[in-house]
Amino acid sequence: MAKRDFLTLLDTSPEEIQFLVQRAHELKAMQKAGELWEPLRGKTLAMIFGLSSTRTRVAFETGMHQLGGHAIFLNPDSSQLGRGEPVEDTARVLSEMVDIVMIRGDSQADMNTFAHYASIPVINAMSELYHPCQLLADIQTFTDHRGSIEGATVAFVGDGYNMCNSYINAAAQLGFNLKIACPEGYQPDPERLASTNNANLVDSAEEAVEKADLVVTDVWSSMGHEEETAARLAAFAPFQVNRKLLDLATKDTLLMHCLPAHRGEEVSDDVMDDPRSVVWEEAGNRLHTQKALLEFLL
Ligand code: CP
Repeated sequence: MAKRDFLTLLDTSPEEIQFLVQRAHELKAMQKAGELWEPLRGKTLAMIFGLSSTRTRVAFETGMHQLGGHAIFLNPDSSQLGRGEPVEDTARVLSEMVDIVMIRGDSQADMNTFAHYASIPVINAMSELYHPCQLLADIQTFTDHRGSIEGATVAFVGDGYNMCNSYINAAAQLGFNLKIACPEGYQPDPERLASTNNANLVDSAEEAVEKADLVVTDVWSSMGHEEETAARLAAFAPFQVNRKLLDLATKDTLLMHCLPAHRGEEVSDDVMDDPRSVVWEEAGNRLHTQKALLEFLL
């Protein structure tokens, strides 16, 4: 059987995404019930982290452990990647030793090259273009609370970066209506936006959240943009998600944030703990969706 990669949400069909979310729901129930399920005994995941992580690393490492397998952490400082061993060679070497690889880094192109040369499945654990693992957790969280996301209205408020791009892919795959509000100069790539009729730019945060069933935001300075923080703080100020903004959405709207959050910037301090916020559950669902993904790809 040909290996499958998960480099963007477009690598899975809508039916497969729905299957992964349903399976994550089942795995969550099994884990909460204390049921052991170890189908990945003897399997090893290599985790390559070129950028920092809390949730992604803990979810993959814990997930492999719970599924009976093993995970190895690699970063440029402690591996030959940092000394210039080519991506192509690393992909072929790891394919000889482990069963699956996840990569977090700032180059989707390198990730694609790695996947091309690897004979084992490769998972995008966040690049500068996409964060598909986070979307699986977000879709699970919405589905657990509100049922199918198809036909729902989703507002993405903030930086038109990797999370926004993955929401555009998810809108295309799952048939929800995505309204995107970003400051001038921080909007998503027009070509990506034009890839679906389900995602549209609007003029303000207020317009985006109007009648939204789900409001999503992300940090204003993602990893790699820290030097631009001062300029970004000024540009993004009208795009803060706070109670006043959230009150414009539907009365039972949900608030999500992939975390880590900068309280007082993209989200007000109080809104993180508002009853409409499901950010902690969303973070926890990273574990269950990534377990479903590992099980599916292996
Ligand atoms: N949301 C997310 O990917 O969190 P980490 O950066 O902590 O992995």
